[in-house]
Amino acid sequence: MKILVTGGAGFIGSHTVVELLHAGFEPIIVDNFSNSNLSIVGKIQEITGRKISFYQIDCKLDDHLEPIFLENPEIEGVIHFAAYKAVGESVSEPEKYYHNNIASLTCVCRMMKKYGVNKFVFSSSCTVYGNPEVIPVNEKAPIKEALNPYAHTKQLAEEILFGLCQYNQDLEVVILRYFNPIGAHESGLIGELPIGVPNNLVPYITQTAAGWRDSLVVFGKDYSTADGTCIRDFIHVEDLAKAHLKALMWKNPESNLEVFNIGSGVGHSVQSLIDIFIKETGIDFPVKYGERRPGDIPAIFASAEKALGLLNWKTERTLEEALRHAWNWQQTLEKTE
Ligand code: WQD
Repeated sequence: MKILVTGGAGFIGSHTVVELLHAGFEPIIVDNFSNSNLSIVGKIQEITGRKISFYQIDCKLDDHLEPIFLENPEIEGVIHFAAYKAVGESVSEPEKYYHNNIASLTCVCRMMKKYGVNKFVFSSSCTVYGNPEVIPVNEKAPIKEALNPYAHTKQLAEEILFGLCQYNQDLEVVILRYFNPIGAHESGLIGELPIGVPNNLVPYITQTAAGWRDSLVVFGKDYSTADGTCIRDFIHVEDLAKAHLKALMWKNPESNLEVFNIGSGVGHSVQSLIDIFIKETGIDFPVKYGERRPGDIPAIFASAEKALGLLNWKTERTLEEALRHAWNWQQTLEKTE
């Protein structure tokens, strides 16, 4: 079965393509390499021993995307990762984020309609919940005012998909709300490739441990949590990738759109992650405690019951494995800037 994977050379996309190949699917990567690079395609082939077709295109452009559907009439489903995802950048360049993230979605949906492709798995995010009143947060939790334009593009994308599914009963949509993806493939051949200074915690930890950064700054140690640092639901990227296969193969008996939280169901503090990394790798590194980061919420982690009950999916990798794999991956990288 041919599956179009937009953003398939990215962090989560590449790990999902590996799992699709292992499961016997025929993924087609489309990616404009704005947040990834061509070498990832070769690494996927090295991991799986399988050739993979890919196209360097911008999936918000009709004249880029339509030829892919014309050349691959056997496409039976789409997994849509392609989007900008840096929270800070979304605040400084909102127009770029609203345009790219929404136009790519609507372009893909129009091509699916035109070429009779109905199965769609969408990469959403727990940031649609804003700062939830109740944690663990389940899929019925209210969608609150977005904390940044990136989160708002995910909320808008979900609303567009709700609307399309209301007017097109042939569509079969699964929305996956990711919590905090971390780690790398166990082979150490693919992983997270942040451009420039990482926004996210784990790549910042591994780059500091590698001596690329002087110290990790913990953004706030005065939150009302056990150790004063924020709590998040960190999930191994391989577990997250496997959730996409479950979503792709799932036949929804109830409706043509379903939403799932994809998280471990357990919250860990920033400090505990630092401690576990040092214990797992034996690498100590400088840590400073600074001011809170604007927009951060004190704590969020998933209720993952629905994905377990309906998709028969749950995390299998431990936090220790995720941090060890992240460190293995970091050690393969050359400092670029
Ligand atoms: C986690 C915690 C920081 C860096 C974001 C997106 C979310 C998803 C995952 C896409 C926070 C603290 C971080 C550092 C720190 N991405 N931190 N020092 O903000 O929970 O979620 O990435 O879907 O949509 O919003 O992840 O890794 O940036 O931060 O103390 O140098 O680590 O304050 O408490 P976040 P994060």
